[in-house]
Amino acid sequence: MKYMSHDDIRNTWYRFFEEKGHKVLESASLIPINDNSLLWVNAGVTPLKKYFDGSVVPECKRLVSIQKCIRTNDIENVGVTKRHQTFFEMMGNFSIGDYFKNEAIEYSFELLTSPKYFGIDKNLLYVTIYTDDNDAYNRWAEVGIDPSHIVRLEENFWEIGEGPCGPDSEIFYDRGEKYDKDGTALEKFKLDEEQERYVEIWNNVFSQFNSKEGVDRKDYKELPHKNIDTGAGLERWCCIFQNVDSTFDTDLFKPIMQHIEELTGSIYTGQKEYKIIADHIRAIVFALADGASFENTGRGYVLRRLLRRSVRYGKNLFIECPFMYKLVSDVVFTMEKAYPYLVEKRAVIETLVLEEEKLFLKTLEAGERRLKELVKNSNDGYISGEDAFKLYDTYGFPYELTLEYLNELGYSCSKEEFFKYMNIYIELA
Ligand code: ALA
Repeated sequence: MKYMSHDDIRNTWYRFFEEKGHKVLESASLIPINDNSLLWVNAGVTPLKKYFDGSVVPECKRLVSIQKCIRTNDIENVGVTKRHQTFFEMMGNFSIGDYFKNEAIEYSFELLTSPKYFGIDKNLLYVTIYTDDNDAYNRWAEVGIDPSHIVRLEENFWEIGEGPCGPDSEIFYDRGEKYDKDGTALEKFKLDEEQERYVEIWNNVFSQFNSKEGVDRKDYKELPHKNIDTGAGLERWCCIFQNVDSTFDTDLFKPIMQHIEELTGSIYTGQKEYKIIADHIRAIVFALADGASFENTGRGYVLRRLLRRSVRYGKNLFIECPFMYKLVSDVVFTMEKAYPYLVEKRAVIETLVLEEEKLFLKTLEAGERRLKELVKNSNDGYISGEDAFKLYDTYGFPYELTLEYLNELGYSCSKEEFFKYMNIYIELA
């Protein structure tokens, strides 16, 4: 397959959907506007909910975007797997009461397989559909997907937070036997089990319902019109078109990895510390650029946690001085074509990151010493919630970071007890 840079992929994505009458939307801010149900924009559809639920009528019923997203539900998995990230970009096409399933499937197939665009061999594509979605089944077969490559799954229903949702159809790319040493990947894929060979590259949501907290799925109200919401992870597409195994080996990450190599005098061979630092600095730069700040609660706490987790893992690479701020320019350099505004924000972001690093470094060593002492003195495998709270309060250790340290040492701490002290602290503040 022809090599494509992340900017080539972006341009081809936009070109195709513009040719199909879609209006290009700039990525919205990572900070949701008028939406208290989320801390961060976490999908291309998030800033478009207002169009989907009919409260605002868009200028054009066909939209295309590449949306900055942050998902923080499993920060501790970043670095552990090849693909988990907190910050990512979601390419999406949207129909607001215009085209539906038939065209959406046709567009996906054409964009992926036509030599004019991405030119993927159709035999390398597999799709999953919602169990009883015969329309989707028939359409995929009609456009040219081999029926043996279409899998029905109960789980194919997309919803996240409140808002537009519906049955979905996911598209997978076959990375070949290299990722299937024991020949069981297909069987696992069909059972929706983890495997390395078939990777999800695009999700088409046939968005018909409005989800509400506390309401059963079967009772969700219908949206005023049927919509299409799709999401394709740019980082995964980079893996495929750059023929690399991990997101962290793509051109989105290379300059950052190279700079960490220079700073540490080590070589990147997949170490979790590199992945954590590189992922987190991207999230931090984009979040700060959108106006977030380091704080003790909410969104700002997430940022603080990301920065402090990076500094802690930097120590594993023997970095003792502030360094994250030095990586800001690599993120800007890599992304400036797609996000030109980063250039002028760079200096301010560097300062904010440097200040936050200094703040944490002041107490990091003393905190680590204290934590080791607590572990040494514990005879039941636990440290108390009060002690974990003191680590937070006195040494600036986010609770989750304390837990990560403890896990590595085979210890734990009660979350409930920690939050009891945390809540008293918030009430007093
Ligand atoms: N909103 C859908 C997703 O995030 C496309 O997967």
